[in-house]
Amino acid sequence: MKTHYKQIAIALIAIFLFNLNLRAQLPKEAPEDKAKRMEWWTQARFGMFIHWGLYAEAARHEWVKKRERITNEEYQKYFEVFDPDLFDPHEWAKMAKNAGMKYAVITTKHHEGFCLFDSKYTDYKSVNTPYGKDIIKQWVEAFRTEGLKIGFYYSLIDWHHPDYEIDRVHPQSARTDKEYKKLNKGRDMDKYRKYLKDQVKELLTNYGKVDIIWLDYSFPSGKHGKGHEDWDSENLLKMVRELQPGIIVNDRLDLLDKEGGWDFTTPEQYKVSRWPEKNGVKVPWETCQTFSGSWGYYRDEATWKSPHQLIELLIESVSKGGNLLLNVGPTARGMFDYRAQDRLKAMGDWMFYNNRSIYNCTEAPSEFSKPDNCLLTYNPKTNRLYVHLLDYPMGALTLKGFKGKVKYARFLHDASEIKFTQPRHNVTHQESNAAGDIMLKLPVVKPKVEIPVIELFLK
Ligand code: GLC
Repeated sequence: MKTHYKQIAIALIAIFLFNLNLRAQLPKEAPEDKAKRMEWWTQARFGMFIHWGLYAEAARHEWVKKRERITNEEYQKYFEVFDPDLFDPHEWAKMAKNAGMKYAVITTKHHEGFCLFDSKYTDYKSVNTPYGKDIIKQWVEAFRTEGLKIGFYYSLIDWHHPDYEIDRVHPQSARTDKEYKKLNKGRDMDKYRKYLKDQVKELLTNYGKVDIIWLDYSFPSGKHGKGHEDWDSENLLKMVRELQPGIIVNDRLDLLDKEGGWDFTTPEQYKVSRWPEKNGVKVPWETCQTFSGSWGYYRDEATWKSPHQLIELLIESVSKGGNLLLNVGPTARGMFDYRAQDRLKAMGDWMFYNNRSIYNCTEAPSEFSKPDNCLLTYNPKTNRLYVHLLDYPMGALTLKGFKGKVKYARFLHDASEIKFTQPRHNVTHQESNAAGDIMLKLPVVKPKVEIPVIELFLK
């Protein structure tokens, strides 16, 4: 009897130790090392997101399969006619570069499950469509040639894989637990987890250096969701870091509370009110945004943001220490829609003259308060402060509390001097009458720049 207990105890200890060993240890990293690893990204500030897949043919949102509860059989028509004959990744890369973007992240597979890369684990890939080629391969080569860093978006969610358990965001989502049980009979998430890991491995092995990976997304709360256990996130991430040691990883693996479980946070489609923090510490962040409401090409979507709004979005992000990843949804012929091209061009025109207030810049030190209708960014290396005039003032701009702090002031776009005066005391009708302020004298006519920028050399 006694030996029996002993055997059970030994077996339990063995199982415990085995599990401990299986549990992934994410690599530890000192904060300075992490900052160093992410330095290029932090300095770049502006990247392009690209959402492309079969949904570009439906042209009514990348979630069309879910929204209209389309089955695999019905969705197959898009696969059969997929042939982006005008696709030229060099043109895309040039447009991104000319807009001032320093990196780009493309969907290698979105929720629909269709792969733009030549994976040996599936037939559901661009190589098997009439187009017949590996899109990612060409894309990587072109973007690298233009000097852009490259990132892969890979959807954890998969609406095509036969072993992926149907959940509440799946096109065939059910109403009752019983229905779910019936639908998921025979589906084996172990097999899907392996598929997912194998594909990520292919992506991080077959395409050279990959600078960023965007794994999307987890929805663990509530019923019929999915989280880190479904993806085996820790082991997946461990593999990612082993295969591409320098890689930068987003935060959607459901490992928010794990040390080393993510590199940057990803506020989507909204402006943060201040620099995001975790446990009181400011964290790297990147907001991802669309030109209009949809990520995939949406023909009839009309709520396109104006160039002014988009430039402001970029400045805003940098003014709070963050990045902007701005999305293009190419058409099914492989082109950027004319509206996207217009906006990229407008951003490029602005960036050509004003990128110095974006690259290598961050939030201004707290001693500098921003004037009304302005945004501030700051370059710590050059000690220059940038005042962005969102709404052009009438002839003068008061900088409160700036007295004695500014050496020289000029417009950024043409390097023309801006004179400034010390305040005149006791002149109550003068706006600038406080002892600590300075007043910049601006031309009455707004310079021909969407959002003019003043460069201040600080003392
Ligand atoms: C959401 C959406 C997805 C899009 C992504 C971009 O997760 O599901 O369609 O790709 O956001 O951040």
